[in-house]
Amino acid sequence: MILRESDWRAQRLRFHTDIRSTKIAQLETRKQMSVLIYDEAAKLQLRLSGTAWVEASAEADTAWQMSTPFARRCYMADVAPGTVVDTPTSGLPSWIEGRKPDEAQLIHARDNFAVLLFFI
Ligand SMILES: Cc1cc2nc3c(=O)[nH]c(=O)nc-3n(C[C@H](O)[C@H](O)[C@H](O)COP(=O)(O)O)c2cc1C
Repeated sequence: MILRESDWRAQRLRFHTDIRSTKIAQLETRKQMSVLIYDEAAKLQLRLSGTAWVEASAEADTAWQMSTPFARRCYMADVAPGTVVDTPTSGLPSWIEGRKPDEAQLIHARDNFAVLLFFI
């Protein structure tokens, strides 16, 4: 996952994810989570333990609005991330491949988007 924000004072990391992904279902039954980070330039590996919070409403709305259309397009995928497929695919419907979606086309994609907060 891409680290979207780190708040040192709150000891909190923010990630964006697809609510259909396996990790979300796992975190619903068990809030404990670990994060492994590798900083290639610093040659530094961090292993962090903490608890997770999945935010699908208010804070997710803000993060959604602040994301670019191309970033939000990832959430237009027909199937959940991690789904086993027969041939390599982005998972996106073919009509949006290589195109920038407009706001109307992105409306349903919002349902798949969630903010994953991690408290160290
Ligand atoms: C370059 C790149 C960036 C990615 N960024 C994210 C991300 O920010 N959030 C996320 O949930 N998955 C991201 N993924 C997909 C994850 O690697 C993973 O396949 C997906 O989350 C499903 O994992 P799960 O089955 O453990 O939930 C990214 C994949 C790639 C290749």
